[in-house]
This record gives sequence, structure tokens and C-alpha cells, in this order.
Amino acid sequence: MSALFTPVRIGPVEAANRVVISPMCMYAAEEGTASDFHIQHVMRFAMSGAGLAVLEATGVTPEGRISPACLGLWSDENERALARVVSSAKRWGLPNAKLGIQLCHAGRKGSTPLPWERGGPLTPEKGAWTTLAPSAIPFGPNEPAPRELTDVEIRDIIRAFAESAKRAARAGFDVIEMHAAHGYLIHQFHSPLSNKRTDDWGGDEERRLRFPLAVAEAIRAATPDHVALGARITGTDFAEGGLTVEDGARLARELKARGFHYVCVSSGNIVAGGRPATGPNFNLERAAQVKRESGIVTRTVGFIAGPRAAEEAVASGAVDQVALARAFLDDPNWAIHAAETLGASWAVSRHYGRVGQGAWPGASVSRAWP
Ligand SMILES: Cc1cc2nc3c(=O)[nH]c(=O)nc-3n(C[C@H](O)[C@H](O)[C@H](O)COP(=O)(O)O)c2cc1C
Repeated sequence: MSALFTPVRIGPVEAANRVVISPMCMYAAEEGTASDFHIQHVMRFAMSGAGLAVLEATGVTPEGRISPACLGLWSDENERALARVVSSAKRWGLPNAKLGIQLCHAGRKGSTPLPWERGGPLTPEKGAWTTLAPSAIPFGPNEPAPRELTDVEIRDIIRAFAESAKRAARAGFDVIEMHAAHGYLIHQFHSPLSNKRTDDWGGDEERRLRFPLAVAEAIRAATPDHVALGARITGTDFAEGGLTVEDGARLARELKARGFHYVCVSSGNIVAGGRPATGPNFNLERAAQVKRESGIVTRTVGFIAGPRAAEEAVASGAVDQVALARAFLDDPNWAIHAAETLGASWAVSRHYGRVGQGAWPGASVSRAWP
């Protein structure tokens, strides 16, 4: 009996198992609008056997995107395209596959070139914009300085998160995830390393939490009850004077008190070069502590060392869900193969049904080739 392949309730949503496809930027959107790439990419995930797939960091405003080719959700056109991605995946994918979207504002980490065009900052010809942040401190020594946000702009961004949440719910997503990690805007407000404000939005921890929690409250108020709400949070800044796992646990408790249903505990990326060498399952201990200290449904992510490590993370009670990113780019059927490895029942899309019928040479599942 596999613990990984038992259902889990995330507020109003039940996922068929505890395997989650972690959000991954795909740099395939145009003006924030999902393309044909996303239809196929998300379809693969909807056929993957994972209980939930969370789509990539999606900008709530144009300058909230990480790169010019990142998804956005600020316009009717963005919404229409994502609704089509969701409806195709639900129409043709596995019937119980749940879909989420990660809402993000990149702050000072926006305006980046595409991964395959790196080698300097994004140029104006390629669509560079002035980034915005709690304080005018660049991410690293070679990065452009952001402009400090005004109080009015901060309130506009909070409203933009709420508007995008409404759009995400209308587009048919089951889950909305607030990106409060990886050094993006919400994390920039939370961490003392990037927030040096002296007004109501900075200072002690309570003030640095004001923006993250205001965004959470705005998303909560904008989201219908049938959609589950979660956040990717940071378990450590991996930097002197930065956030620790206790800060992560506190944020998790505050989110739970505001009607959020889960957290995914990641780490790092708030300052350039701020992550030490990491080994297998490197965020698991911190996620387990956040779960113990908050009682919210908790997910680990990062270097999960295969199906048995994922199984152990859940069976031990340390966490409720395990998210994987690169494993699903490498093997879009990772969850089906993991279920098979762990002796759990599995199903493929009925369109691919013949994979499980009878023996055929080269099959990667033992049921098909005894
Ligand atoms: C191509 C790629 C894009 C990513 N984009 C995002 C993203 O949009 N949002 C996010 O929270 N994490 C993003 N990540 C981080 C992953 O979600 C995950 O936390 C990280 O890759 C560690 O998990 P893994 O070892 O299973 O790959 C990305 C990772 C990759 C490889």
C-alpha cells in the first residue's frame, strides 16, 4: 500500500494522490498569453498521473513577469487563452487530474532574458522594463537597480493579485498558488535582506509581513470557495540575517488563519549566490517543521530522489505532498512509473490505453511485460 498514491484533501479540492508537478516557467507566452505550446505541455501533465499540476509563475501585471515570454493573467486575452488550456486538459487528460496556477509578481527579479538568450541583461529592443521592489536594492552586484514602490503602487499590485485570482477561477483552475518564495516580490517584502522600508510596509517582521498577508487576504476575498488556495513559501534564505524556517512556519500559520489550504516549502534565491550546495530532498526537514508548527497541508519540493524517497516523505508523516519539477520534464509519465514502482494502481489516458494491454517488448511497466 503506497501512502504517496492515496488521495489528499486540500481545502475544497481532493487530489487523487500526493504527487504534484511543481510550477516551471516555460518562456512560451506572447504578451503574457498562453500559446499552443501550453496546450500540449499542460495536456502532458494532465495525462501524467500526478494528482495536481501547478502551472508556471504567472505575472499579475506586465512588469510582474519574470521574462517577456512568461505567462500573465491581467487581460481578457490572457484569461481566454488559459481557459482554453484548462478546458482542453480537462477534456482530454485523465479525468481526475487537478490543475493549479501560480500567481506571481517578480519585483526586482523581473525583466530577465530568456534562458537561451542569457549573457547580459535584457535589452530595451527585447522588451526590458524598469523593475519595482520594496527598496531600490539590486538582486546582485551585476543586476540593474529596481525602483522603490510607492504606497499607491503597492496597493495597485495587491488589487492586481485579486483580479488575477478572479480570472484564474473563471478560467477553471482548481487551485491558486501565491508565489511568496524564490526572491520574487512577496518574498522581497518578507525578507529583511531586500526590504529596508521605513514606512508601514517595512521594519520589524510584522511590518514586513504586511504586504504578503495583504495579498493573501485580497486573493482569499476574490476567490470562490470551490478553488483551493496555497502559497509557495521560503523555508530559509540561506543567508546571514535572512529568513529562517521559524519565519516560514509563522507565515504558514498566518496564511492558514486567512483561509489558505496549503503551503509548499521551498528556499533560497533572495540574494544572488545565496544557496549552498544541496543534496537529495534538501527542503524536506524544513517542510516537516513548517507542517508541525502550522498544521497546514504541507508540500516539500527540491531534488526528490525518486519514487521511494517521495513515498518515504509522505509515509513518515513528514509532509502531505511531494512536488517535482525536472523529473516531469524528463519523464512526463513520472507519476505512472512511480505508482508502478511502489505497487500502487495506475491508469493511463484511455487514448493511450493499449500501453497497458498485454505484453510488448520494451514496455517500461511490468504489467505489460511480465
Ligand atoms: C525550468 C524550470 C522552471 C521553473 N519555474 C518555476 C516557477 O515558475 N515557479 C516556481 O515556484 N518554481 C519554479 N522552478 C523551480 C521548481 O518548481 C522546483 O522548485 C525546483 O526545480 C526544484 O525541484 P526539482 O528538483 O524537482 O526540479 C522552476 C524550475 C525549473 C527547472
